[in-house]
Amino acid sequence: MRTGKGVTFISLNDGSTLAGIQVVAEPELENYAEVSALGTGSAVAVTGVLQESPAAGQELELKALSVEVVGAADQEYPMQKKRHSFEYLRTIAHMRVRSNTFGAVFRVRSALAQEVHRFFAERGFLYVHTPIITANDCEGAGELFRVTTLDMDNPPRVEGEIDFGQDFFAKATGLTVSGQLEGELFAQAFSDIYTFGPTFRAENSNTARHAAEFWMIEPEMAFADLSDDADLAEAFLKRLCRFALDSCDEDMRFFNAQIDKGLIERIEGVARASFARMDYGEAIERLKKAPVSFQFPVEWGLDLQSEHERYLTEQVVGGPVFIMNYPKDIKAFYMRLNDDGRTVAAMDLLVPKVGEIIGGSQREERLEPLIGRMMEVGIEPESLSWYLDTRRWGSTPHAGFGLGFERLIMYLTGMENIRDVIPFPRTPRHAEF
Ligand code: 4AD
Ligand code: MG
Repeated sequence: MRTGKGVTFISLNDGSTLAGIQVVAEPELENYAEVSALGTGSAVAVTGVLQESPAAGQELELKALSVEVVGAADQEYPMQKKRHSFEYLRTIAHMRVRSNTFGAVFRVRSALAQEVHRFFAERGFLYVHTPIITANDCEGAGELFRVTTLDMDNPPRVEGEIDFGQDFFAKATGLTVSGQLEGELFAQAFSDIYTFGPTFRAENSNTARHAAEFWMIEPEMAFADLSDDADLAEAFLKRLCRFALDSCDEDMRFFNAQIDKGLIERIEGVARASFARMDYGEAIERLKKAPVSFQFPVEWGLDLQSEHERYLTEQVVGGPVFIMNYPKDIKAFYMRLNDDGRTVAAMDLLVPKVGEIIGGSQREERLEPLIGRMMEVGIEPESLSWYLDTRRWGSTPHAGFGLGFERLIMYLTGMENIRDVIPFPRTPRHAEF
């Protein structure tokens, strides 16, 4: 609202685009007093004449013939005309969606979700809805949220342990950490498939890149190896970059101006780049030679920390890089053992500013080595008998990956905290709204 002499300008926005439309209200309106006193955040319905605007920066404006006040907002409205910190806005996540920044974030998020489906549909991938409640911990990291209907105050016990045999599913269950294992079953029937769904991890790490509930896109391809997997991941990420630049251009210009000055140039670069590929072993060598001191140790056999990942993609390569063939002991049981007997066909795609954005692998399609790996890491083969069945009958080399959708949105918008790219973030100690 801007009220001048004998005229009031209303900046009206319906959420469809960043720019609103300017409504010109003049004293001839029968409720002009009410209109000129409207507060930021009010809901109105305007009828008027669309006309060329004499003001700079807009072609058209709406000269109001009537302004109906549908829902007024007073001075207590928590988002007045000034800049608010993202921390503050998180405390009013039910209101922040009406602001410019969050409008742009959630328009881009929606558009990209639709583009994900188009990308896979064009390539003939089947979209499969994998279960949300599950009894398996795919990544083996022990980060399953428990799902139970047992009486928490007085659970049934056998020999001191909680008896999940009496629980709803007659076994211990939780929320899925990945749809991959079920995705693999589908790939053996439909060749190329993908999942895109909510994923849950009770990972008690309070970082800007981890959420307890996030969305993951997981393609899986039969008759494919690690290099095919990286090819798909590269084509996919580039396509999403190109799409954001071309189809979300107004919002992308906003992020470039307000959030991250080099954003558009960086995304342009990635859309054109050929992604580097580097073996884990070489990455370790490069990190050891780095003229910087890392907080965490660098040694063959240790996992890469976020500081290492960022150094590799930002300083060593200066762009996206796949790190491939990790030591088996730091990766999940389902990854295919390489001929050297000590690494697996894994790949992580690292990008500047975010670090790991994609994690994937070629899967162990040979029954015996797979059972061997399960025993090594303490997974009872019987508990995944259905998974092993795919290796018994008509097993094919296959590969897939997972892209964290929020990490993608962070990457494409320049937003630095995962809490600001998901509508109502779930993180340790936070499940409001
Ligand atoms: O590397 P991750 O754990 O891989 C898997 O879950 C495999 N089952 C994927 C597959 O091969 N089908 O997770 C994949 C991606 C990560 O690269 C990251 O982008 C995202 O999921 N991710 C998270 N995003 C937000 N919050 C968290 N807590 C995340 N954990 C993983
Ligand atoms: Mg990973």
